[in-house]
Amino acid sequence: MRAVRPDISLMEQNGITGIALPRLDDPSVIPLWFGEGDRVTPAFIREAAKKALDDGQTFYVHTRGLPELRTSIRDYLNNLYDVAIDEERISVPGSSMLCITIAAHMALSQGDDALVVSPHWPNIETTYAVTGANVNTVRQRETKTGWQLSAEQIIDAVTPETKSIFVNSPCNPTGWVMQRPDQERLLGYCRDNDILLIADEVYHRHYYGADAAPSFVQIAGGEDPIVIVNGFSKAWAMTGWRVGWVVAPKSQGTHWAIMSECFNTGSTVFTQQACITALKEGEDHVRQLKDQYQAGRQMLIDKLGNHPAIDLCLPDGAFYAFPRIRGIKSSRRFAEMLLEKEDVGVAPGYTFGESNDEYIRICFALSPDRLAKGLDRIVRFIGDNHNDI
Ligand SMILES: Cc1ncc(COP(=O)(O)O)c(C=O)c1O
Repeated sequence: MRAVRPDISLMEQNGITGIALPRLDDPSVIPLWFGEGDRVTPAFIREAAKKALDDGQTFYVHTRGLPELRTSIRDYLNNLYDVAIDEERISVPGSSMLCITIAAHMALSQGDDALVVSPHWPNIETTYAVTGANVNTVRQRETKTGWQLSAEQIIDAVTPETKSIFVNSPCNPTGWVMQRPDQERLLGYCRDNDILLIADEVYHRHYYGADAAPSFVQIAGGEDPIVIVNGFSKAWAMTGWRVGWVVAPKSQGTHWAIMSECFNTGSTVFTQQACITALKEGEDHVRQLKDQYQAGRQMLIDKLGNHPAIDLCLPDGAFYAFPRIRGIKSSRRFAEMLLEKEDVGVAPGYTFGESNDEYIRICFALSPDRLAKGLDRIVRFIGDNHNDI
C-alpha cells in the first residue's frame, strides 16, 4: 500500500527540530535554537483574546481575515512606511508560514525551478519542494561589513524555468538585509520576466540600522508579481498564536480566498481580535523587544566576537548570529554534544542549506541572564572540544 507520496516519504525532519524536540520541555536547557525569546505575549494582547472568546467570537469569519484586522494592518503599514496600500491587497490566511506555503503553491508546478536566497530557514526549502518544484539556491557571502548578496547575483542564478524567487530580509539565519537599490533591481527583473517574488519580511522590526528594514511594500505597485509576507510572531512576541498576513497583487484577492479555504479556512477568530489590539496599542512593546534584542546582539558580539576559533559576521537584522566555528566537521554533532555537555540548544548550520556545516545559528532573543549563561557555556565548550568534532 502506498500511504505517503514518494517524494514526501523521503523528506527528513529539519535539523532544528531534529535536535530540539527530544528535550523541548527540559527546563535545564538554555534554548537558543528556535526563533523566539522567552517573554510571554503581553497581558493587554492576551486580554483582548480572552475578551473575544467571552464575547462569543467562536464562529467562522471571512477567509481573508476580519475586515477590521485587514484595515488595521493597512493602517500599520501605511504609517510605518509612509505609503498608501490598498486594503484589498491584504489577506490573513493563518501563520506567516502558511502565507509562504500558499504563495509557493500559487506560483509553482511540478518541474518548475524555484530560487531561494541562502543560507535559508529550512522550512522554506521543504515548502517549495512540496509543490514539486526543483529548489535552487544562491548563497550570500561573508564580508568584513556583513553578509552580502546583490540583486545581480540573484538574477545570475535564475534559470529559464525559474517561476519564483524567495528573499527573506532581514534574514534568518544570517541577519543580512537587502537594501533599496537591490530591491528595486530585483522587483524590476521579476516584473519583466513574470517571476513571482516572495518577500519574507517577518523580521521587519528587527533592523539595527533604523526603525524598520527597507520593505518591498515601499516600492511594489498594486499589480507587481510579488507577495510580501509578514506576521505577528516576531515583532509582537506572538509565536504561538499563528497569525500572519500578505500584501499581494490586488487582482489575486479571490485566489487568496480560495487557497485560504483549502489550507485553513482563515485564522482563528479570537487571535485575530488580539492582533487588532497588538497593532493599535503595541508600538511600545515592539520597541522594547527590539531594544532587548539589540542588547542581546551586543552581548553576543562581546562574548564571541574576538574568540580565536569563531568567525562572527555581524547581523544587520533579525535576532540570530550565524558564526563559523573554525575546524568543526559536523554542525549536527557540534549541536548534539553542546546540548549533552552544556545543556545549551543551538541550531546546526547544515540545515540552512549547502556549505554551512561549519556554522551554527544562535538566537539572541532570550532574556539577558539566560543568554549570558548560554553564551558563556558555548565559549567553554568550544575551548574544550571543538577540534574533536
Ligand atoms: C524567515 C522566517 N519566515 C517565516 C517564519 C514563520 O513565522 P510564523 O511563526 O508567523 O509562521 C519564520 C519563523 O521562524 C522565519 O524565521
